[in-house]
This record gives sequence, structure tokens and C-alpha cells, in this order.
Amino acid sequence: MSLQKLLSPATLNGLSLKNRIIKAATFEGMIREENITEQCIELHTTLARHDVGLTTLAYCAPEADGRLDHTHFYIRESVLPTLRQLADNVHAAGGKLSGQISHCGGFSKNKQLQRKRPAAPSLSLNTMGAMYGLLLNQPMNESLMQEVIGSYRNAAQLMKSAGFDAIEIHFGHGYLLSQFISPLTNKRNDEYGGPIHHRMRFPLRVLEGIRNVVGSEFPLLAKITMYDDLKGGITLQDSLETAKILEKNGIDAIILSAGTSSQNAMLLFHGDSILPGLLHYEKNPVLRFFMQAFKNKFFRNYPYKPLYLLEQAQQFRDTLQTNLVYIGGATEPDDLEKVMQAGFDFVQLGRPLVRDPAMVKHLLQMEKQYRNGCTHCNQCAPLMNDPDGIRCVLPAWTTPAS
Ligand SMILES: Cc1cc2nc3c(=O)[nH]c(=O)nc-3n(C[C@H](O)[C@H](O)[C@H](O)COP(=O)(O)O)c2cc1C
Ligand code: SF4
Repeated sequence: MSLQKLLSPATLNGLSLKNRIIKAATFEGMIREENITEQCIELHTTLARHDVGLTTLAYCAPEADGRLDHTHFYIRESVLPTLRQLADNVHAAGGKLSGQISHCGGFSKNKQLQRKRPAAPSLSLNTMGAMYGLLLNQPMNESLMQEVIGSYRNAAQLMKSAGFDAIEIHFGHGYLLSQFISPLTNKRNDEYGGPIHHRMRFPLRVLEGIRNVVGSEFPLLAKITMYDDLKGGITLQDSLETAKILEKNGIDAIILSAGTSSQNAMLLFHGDSILPGLLHYEKNPVLRFFMQAFKNKFFRNYPYKPLYLLEQAQQFRDTLQTNLVYIGGATEPDDLEKVMQAGFDFVQLGRPLVRDPAMVKHLLQMEKQYRNGCTHCNQCAPLMNDPDGIRCVLPAWTTPAS
């Protein structure tokens, strides 16, 4: 029954979806000349053709300085034809398209910053950019806040006009909005710092700005960090407040992730460390040295287990009415059933769809007999830095019998 529910049509703020499976944002790394490639378009079109309910273009920076790296893609007028082609192809394949808007804030190694320093809630050390000469972050004043909100609005408007069906706003993983939410990075003593309702003020202005341009009938999802397992960081208790605030302010769905890319990346993945792969692609010898020296701090060990965020996510389900999207280790049919039984409305899949982009079609055919087989080796994640982008390193998926 639960699998049937997962694979049956659903709606999200009026948007009809084939089923409740959403492709999670997994930074594709398929970028040339600061734009997404044909290969990236083909990837999402394939996912749509194979019956993913909603596919998500990962990490769409709303402005040039919102990129972690100057080679990355950001939303602007000149990429509109490419975005239109992506949306048209996904739609022609029978799918729906979302895009994750994310701004790196003070976690940046962008060597071609337009501003003097990366924008952040408070004057702080930019751990990632320090080795690239971007040692300090610039605390955001009112005019910089307005500028950045304007970039989010503009990006959302362009994405909607290109044919995106939904937008996912990144409030988690240590990026700009999460930097405002976390007491570790938000040290402000004005109305944007202090208790969680104050730390949410800037993120809410971004949500409000986007809502105003896309309208009330356009689906907006929020990806949050439920907890980051860092001393003085984001707690489950604060995140429950964050989620309630988002619900009250008209979000259509909340995606319940954990961890931060900047300080505790393995919490969001669980499984084998991504450090060896990241070191392989990191050219800066000083940064390589620090990554190795502080590996126990930044790349902690969280052994994989199925549905590793379910216990925490359940607390949100018990408290909130809005659509909730489970994410994290939902890999095999039994896991997917449990997510539905626990009352979640949608599930986002990252690695399972990297392992088998035709997973939904296979699930429809094989139901409980389906085996995805992702080993959570996490070797696909550092491939976001590879010229060919992310892919599963195992031999291509085949049916268990073949
Ligand atoms: C290759 C790769 C790239 C990722 N890039 C992003 C990203 O751009 N934005 C994001 O919010 N999460 C990103 N994630 C995290 C996933 O969205 C997801 O939270 C995580 O993989 C856990 O889900 P899973 O067990 O279904 O893979 C990435 C994960 C992988 C494996
Ligand atoms: S490389 Fe393949 S098996 Fe390893 S985590 Fe990624 S999708 Fe799973």
C-alpha cells in the first residue's frame, strides 16, 4: 500500500506530479563557460523520462558572488535559452522541473568575486576561501541585504519565466541563509541576530521576496538543516521553530536534511568519507594540508544506516501540518515504504538516482523486488569537481536476475 501511495500521482500547491519521488539536488558539476551543459540537460531529461515526479537542478546561484567557485553557473539573462531548453526537454519527457536556489555567502573560494569580500551575516573567517586570499567575510548591512534579496527575486523570476515548475530555496547545509540561522556564524546583535525568530528574519525576507515575484500559486520548497551536530550550532529545537516559521509564512514543503557542507559534511551523507575524493581534485597544497590535518573535525565518521535521519524527521512530522519531504538513506523499497508509513508526503532521493537514474521506472515494474544497490561509498560526490560531472562509479545498474 505504502509503495503504491509513493508511486501514485500527487499535487504540490496545485502542481500535478506523477508520483511522490523528487530527485534531490545533487550538484551535477556539468558546467562549461559558467552555464549548464547539454549533458546536464540530458541527465534531467532522462530522469523525467524514467518517471521521476519532480527533478531538481542543483545549486543555482542567484548572483555571481553566490557561487562557491568562479567557474560555476549562476542565474542570469544570458542563460535563459539554456534553462528554457532544459524545462522544455523535461516537460516533453513527461516530467516536472524544480531548481535549487543557493547562495554560498561566507563559504566561498570564488576568485572572481565582484564584491571585495564574500557576504555573510557577521565578520568571520572564510575557512574555504582563506587559502585563496579570501580570508575574511563582509558582514551584510541593509543595502547589501537588499542587493542579495534582489538577486534571489531576479533568479526566481527568470527561472519561472524559463518554465521551471517549482523552486527549492536552500536554507541549510551552511550556505548563506543557514549562516544566518546558525548561532555559530550569526553573531549579530541587531534585529537579525539573537533568538531563532531574529536569526530567521533575513531568510524570511528572501522567502517573501521570492514569493512576491512567483505568486501564491507557485510551489516553493525549503531545504533545511534539522541539526548540525556542532557545539553551539543548529539544534533540533531551533530547527523545529525554523520549520514552524516557514510553515506560517507559506512554504509549500520542507525538506528535512542535516549537517553543513562547511563544517560537518558527512552528517548529510553518512557512509564512506568524501575526503579522499575531494583531495584528489583539490589543487591548492595548503588547503589540501589543512583538509588532511583537520579531517577528524570536518569529515567525521557517520556510518551509513538506512533512513539515518528518520528519527529526527519524525519530530517535525509530529509537529507540522505542511508537506514534509524525507531525505537521507531512502534507498530500497522497504525504506521507501517506511517513509510513507511515517506520514511523509514526498521523498527526495540523491544517491539512489545517481546509482540508477531509471529507478522509478524499475520500481514501477518490480515493486518490492527492486534493489537499488547504492553502497554509500560516496565516490560520486567528489566527481562534482570532475570535468564530466557526477556519476556512479559502480558498473551500470542491471536487474538482479541479469
Ligand atoms: C553528488 C552529490 C551532490 C550533492 N549536491 C548537493 C547540492 O547541490 N545541494 C544540496 O542541497 N545537497 C546536495 N547533496 C546532498 C543530497 O541532496 C542529499 O541531501 C544527500 O545525498 C542524502 O540523500 P540520499 O541518501 O538520498 O543520497 C549532494 C549529494 C551528492 C551525492
Ligand atoms: S558512487 Fe554509486 S554506489 Fe557509490 S554512493 Fe554514489 S551512487 Fe552510491
